[in-house]
Amino acid sequence: MTELQKVLIPREELRRRVQELGAEISRDYEGQELILIGILKGAAVFMADLMREITFPVGIDFMAVSSYGNAATTSGAVIIRKDIDTDIRGKHILLVEDLIDTGLTLKHLKEHFLNSGALSVRICTILNKPSRRLADVEVEYSGIEIPDEFVVGYGLDYAEQYRNLPEVWVVATE
Ligand code: IMP
Ligand code: MG
Repeated sequence: MTELQKVLIPREELRRRVQELGAEISRDYEGQELILIGILKGAAVFMADLMREITFPVGIDFMAVSSYGNAATTSGAVIIRKDIDTDIRGKHILLVEDLIDTGLTLKHLKEHFLNSGALSVRICTILNKPSRRLADVEVEYSGIEIPDEFVVGYGLDYAEQYRNLPEVWVVATE
């Protein structure tokens, strides 16, 4: 059984931080060809908000991945469940994530896109749990650092529930 415990990050704080990230990305990539790639399903909400804070035309695409085995044993190798349709060769890629935990998924995806001919690959996440990091991966655009608690809302789920909550909540999992 799960129970929503408390709001960790209210809507207004999410909104403000997404605006700041959008402004920073707009400055950094001005005059360049940029593709945002959202990692489904969790990043869908953040992606929709972030893209509207970018001040020049960007390409967007989505992919869905799952990891081999369980989190404790995974090497970070991922299975691509849904791939992008965009030709990313010679383009700047920004991977958009909901939350970086161990960092294993994103480390693998970064290498995957660099090997596929992207000009550059950076990572943007709205939530970050640095205390949980296992992989050595640089997160160039990190939204809000949170403690090691299980959270839902703003795209994040527990057993496919709660993704539509507009705030980030802590849940008690039993
Ligand atoms: P990792 O960085 O490879 O460990 O993968 C992070 C992914 O695990 C996130 O994108 C989420 O999908 C999921 N995840 C990690 N922590 C939480 C949480 O607190 N709530 C919901 N999903 C989580
Ligand atoms: Mg995810």
